[in-house]
Amino acid sequence: DTDEQLISRPPVVTVMGHVDHGKTSLLDALRKTDVVSGEAGGITQHIGAYQVTMANSAKITFIDTPGHAAFTEMRSRGAQVTDIVVLVVAADDSVMPQTIEAISHAKAAEVPMIVAINKMDKPGADANRVKTELLQHEVVVEEMGGDVQAVEVSAKAGMGLTDLEEAILLQAEVLDLKANPNRVADGVVVEARMEKGRGPVATVLVQRGTLKTGDIFVTGAEWGRVRALIDDHGTRVQEAIPGMPVEVNGLNGVPSAGDDFVVVESEAKAREVSDFRQRR
Ligand code: GTP
Ligand code: NA
Ligand code: MG
Repeated sequence: DTDEQLISRPPVVTVMGHVDHGKTSLLDALRKTDVVSGEAGGITQHIGAYQVTMANSAKITFIDTPGHAAFTEMRSRGAQVTDIVVLVVAADDSVMPQTIEAISHAKAAEVPMIVAINKMDKPGADANRVKTELLQHEVVVEEMGGDVQAVEVSAKAGMGLTDLEEAILLQAEVLDLKANPNRVADGVVVEARMEKGRGPVATVLVQRGTLKTGDIFVTGAEWGRVRALIDDHGTRVQEAIPGMPVEVNGLNGVPSAGDDFVVVESEAKAREVSDFRQRR
C-alpha cells in the first residue's frame, strides 16, 4: 500500500490483568453495557471484541481477555493482535500472578502498555503501592520517571474513564496507525464457535481492506463466502473497515482463534488454498 492509500484506523487495545481485577467491568463502563452480569460465575472464559465511539467521534477497538490462570493462551494471542495493552490492576489487590504474566506477554509482543489502576472507589485502594510493585517488573510509570501512562479509575463509580480514553488516544497518536480500506480484506480470527441454527461463526478483526457481504475468504484451513456480517451491537452491517470487529457467517468449518483471514478472488482459489493447508 502506498502512503496516499492509507488512512487512520482505530487503535486495537487489548485489556489484560489478573482475574477479577475489573477488565470486563471497565469495558462495560466504557460501552455503557453490562456483560459481566451475564457471565457464568463472573469469570470471563472467552475473548470479546468491541468498538467504542467517543464524544469526539474517535473510535477505539477493545479486546477483552480472561484473567483466570487457565487462559494463558488467550492472553498471549490477545497481546499479539493488538496495538496497545491496557493492564488492569485492582488498587486493593495490587500486582498478582496474572498481572505479571500479562506484562510478559506485552513485552514479548513489544506492545506499549497503559496501566489502569482500577477499584479506586474501594477503601483499601492504594495506587502508590501498585506503581511501586510494578517497578519490580520493569514497568515504570510516568510519576516514577518512566514512560508508561498510569490512570486511576473506578469501573464501578465511573471515575477516570475519560482520562483512560485520552491516554489511549495519546498513545495511538504516537503509533500513527494507518490502513488502506480500498483493497481486499485481511485480518485475524479473534474467536470462533459452532452455533445452533447459524453454523460456524467467527469473530474477525479486520486489519486491512474492507470486508463485504459476498466476499470469498480463507481462514486457517477453512473457507467460505460471507453470508452475513454482524457488528458488536448485534446489528447486521454490509461491510467492515480496518479496526472493526465483526461476526462472520458463511464458513464451512470452525477456524481457530489466531488464524489469519484473507479474502481471495474466487471459490477455486479458496479451495486450492484450503486444500493445501489441510494437507500440511
Ligand atoms: P475475569 O475476566 O474473570 O478475569 O474478571 P475481570 O477482570 O473481567 O473482572 P470483572 O469485571 O468480572 O469484575 C470482578 C468483580 O470486581 C465484580 O464483582 C465487579 O463488580 C468488581 N469490580 C470491578 N470494577 C470495580 C470497581 O471499580 N470498584 C469496585 N468496588 N468493584 C469493581
Ligand atoms: Na471476573
Ligand atoms: Mg472479565
